[in-house]
Amino acid sequence: MDAPTRTVTAAELQPGMIIREITELSFDYANLDAKTVTFLKSNFKGAMALVADGTESKKVSVDELKEFDQLEALVDLPNSLKLAKVVSGLPQSLEKRGFLQFKVEIPPDIKDGGPAVHVDAKGQGLAVGSAEARKMHEIKKAKVLKFVDLLTPAEEGRSESTRVIEEMMDMGRAGKVTAKGAEAMVEEIVSQGTSAGMRAIAGLKGSDQTYAHCVDMSVILQECYGDIMERNERTIDEKTRRLTLLSGFMHDIGKSEIPKDVLESTVRFAPDSKEMTMMRNHTVYGAKILTDMGMPKATVNVAHYHHVKKDATMFTSYPDVPYDQVNSVTRLASIVDVYQALIGKRKYKKNWVPGAAVDYILGLSGSEFDERMVAHFLESMGKYPVGSLVRLSTGDLGFVLMIAPPEHPDRPIVAVVESGAGEILTHHTLMDLMLVQDVTVKEVVDHYEHYNRSEDQAYKMFMSIRLN
Ligand SMILES: [Fe+2]
Ligand SMILES: [Fe+2]
Repeated sequence: MDAPTRTVTAAELQPGMIIREITELSFDYANLDAKTVTFLKSNFKGAMALVADGTESKKVSVDELKEFDQLEALVDLPNSLKLAKVVSGLPQSLEKRGFLQFKVEIPPDIKDGGPAVHVDAKGQGLAVGSAEARKMHEIKKAKVLKFVDLLTPAEEGRSESTRVIEEMMDMGRAGKVTAKGAEAMVEEIVSQGTSAGMRAIAGLKGSDQTYAHCVDMSVILQECYGDIMERNERTIDEKTRRLTLLSGFMHDIGKSEIPKDVLESTVRFAPDSKEMTMMRNHTVYGAKILTDMGMPKATVNVAHYHHVKKDATMFTSYPDVPYDQVNSVTRLASIVDVYQALIGKRKYKKNWVPGAAVDYILGLSGSEFDERMVAHFLESMGKYPVGSLVRLSTGDLGFVLMIAPPEHPDRPIVAVVESGAGEILTHHTLMDLMLVQDVTVKEVVDHYEHYNRSEDQAYKMFMSIRLN
């Protein structure tokens, strides 16, 4: 019989365990540089590498790794690797290297504590109304209550972060950008855990051009990325979380090189106009600013390539680079960028509601966007994202507070705010549609339209949710 294996984080490695695979690598491996390629080739001879390849990953020998590859894992480590047997001090140095999770073989002489119990808080694979669904409800309810509590701090964080971005853009125009403010904001958001609330608010409040766009985009990106990791039974480490937020914050920093009148113009520029060229160059300017600031390559990649489409022949795709130079996180960022632009306010268009924007993104899977990333995005946002106003099959109206499990997309957790007869409720009942067999979501309601075309009214209603 084969020796038992299990997946552990660096901190859970014990002396004597044999590392068979490195299953999670930090953000730094999302776009290999020449130095890292050399390091991998000389230290992992004989191993295989999993490299992202469009929508799938392919397995290649470590010897074949090239600059710009997106390394996802190192597998089939040969016995000859000295690294294979854990000795004291090794876990720390592995973690420092950005090796975060491992598949290990456990020799019989090591006492195995067994895998940590994995609670699937998203309720996947549950039958509606089952005993498991009831049990799961308690876990979800605690999360929802915490989420509602964090809405006010989230709103404060959002306005403060927006101010920081605005300041940075102004400094950019004056010829100097420093990341100090952005880094401080990232710390703040991470420490308060308010980004889930900020993501929901983004869909309800709309945003003005450029500044709030960067803030909303960054929190949506970070939440989605965290969800993807969690769904793949990985954890997102703090460093990666910060870096993802920072990459979102800074993705349009190149716009600081563009005069305000061009940036804020409501006129649509002609494709060959000087202004259009200037606007499209925000990606190149951004990459230069961030490189000069010494930002990580992954952050530069987002700023440089977030407008590159899978189908590079589209006019909206720029700059002209092969799609394989676009990191996975950048591919996700390009989806979130478009999503935020749709739900945000623009002077020349009305804001879309989140559910409609998710549908729009799905329609562009495979042409503008990487299919794999679109699938991840949908899983994270849900068909009805948190903050969506929905009509239930009973006729009642409610805001989604937790998305539905993927196999029951019409069964989220909803706070009912208005009865079918149009009566506005002041105390709100939490309805978990995984528990109620005969109720589902019937449709998305445009909250701007419903609340007399006032975005503020819809937002106030959401923020006033009180659960009983
Ligand atoms: Fe952009
Ligand atoms: Fe953007």
